[in-house]
Amino acid sequence: MPIGVFDSGYGGLSVLREMQRVLPDKDFIYLGDSGRAPYGGRDLATILDFAEQCTELLFAEGCKVVVVACHTVSCVALRHLQHRYANDERRVLGVTVPAAENAVAVARGRIGFLGTRRTVGSHTFRTEVAKLDATAEVKEVAAPLLAPIVEEGWECGEIARLAVQQYVEQLGEVDTLVLGCTHYPLLKAVFEEVLPDGVNLLDPAPFVAGRFMDWLMRHPSFSESAGSGLVRVLSSGDTARFAVNAERFLGKVPSVVEFVSERG
Ligand code: SIN
Repeated sequence: MPIGVFDSGYGGLSVLREMQRVLPDKDFIYLGDSGRAPYGGRDLATILDFAEQCTELLFAEGCKVVVVACHTVSCVALRHLQHRYANDERRVLGVTVPAAENAVAVARGRIGFLGTRRTVGSHTFRTEVAKLDATAEVKEVAAPLLAPIVEEGWECGEIARLAVQQYVEQLGEVDTLVLGCTHYPLLKAVFEEVLPDGVNLLDPAPFVAGRFMDWLMRHPSFSESAGSGLVRVLSSGDTARFAVNAERFLGKVPSVVEFVSERG
């Protein structure tokens, strides 16, 4: 059975890419709700509603486990989704706990975190870090300009550099910076240029994929069939635009992007 992965748009493809790297024989269905992206500035009820629809669609497509690649949804809606859908046959997993574990493993006590307004407003990341290391200091800053800059394909220009610089200044002194939005890994080169020497820059996606692989090994009933490494890509937006943008996150153009209506 395929593994479901969803995000508000293209960004979660960077998580899918890492999952494919560690689980090359598994089949995946990726849903990018690009017709309604971004989620990060929306009200909670709307995000819950959209997240339910994406989860239900992936279960209806035959997935037994759904990975929420979107940090915004993971932070504000994961518990709700787990409560509503998880049972012996179905699971919903997120990215926030692995991101916190990753940060605590490499940080020297002062962790910076950038995400959408909704993600940062939830303080879910900080809460998860505190469960692992009560002494770690976490500075969370909302970076609402960064996802749209990446959406526009402007990640190499001056606008991106100025915006990143502004947010890094707001963070103050940190030894580790977590990229808490699936769009931000595309700005890695800019962050590396702007961050002071010695600051760890963390894209949690590889760690998320590794943790997911461990989870599958511990839950063999969710990984019965080997699969053949196939990926179906579904989008609720403009599929041609999605295919072009997908390459930037996935590293290759998906052979087909299927249109799904926003209401599944
Ligand atoms: C968004 O939909 O606003 C960005 C995706 C994310 O939070 O990872």
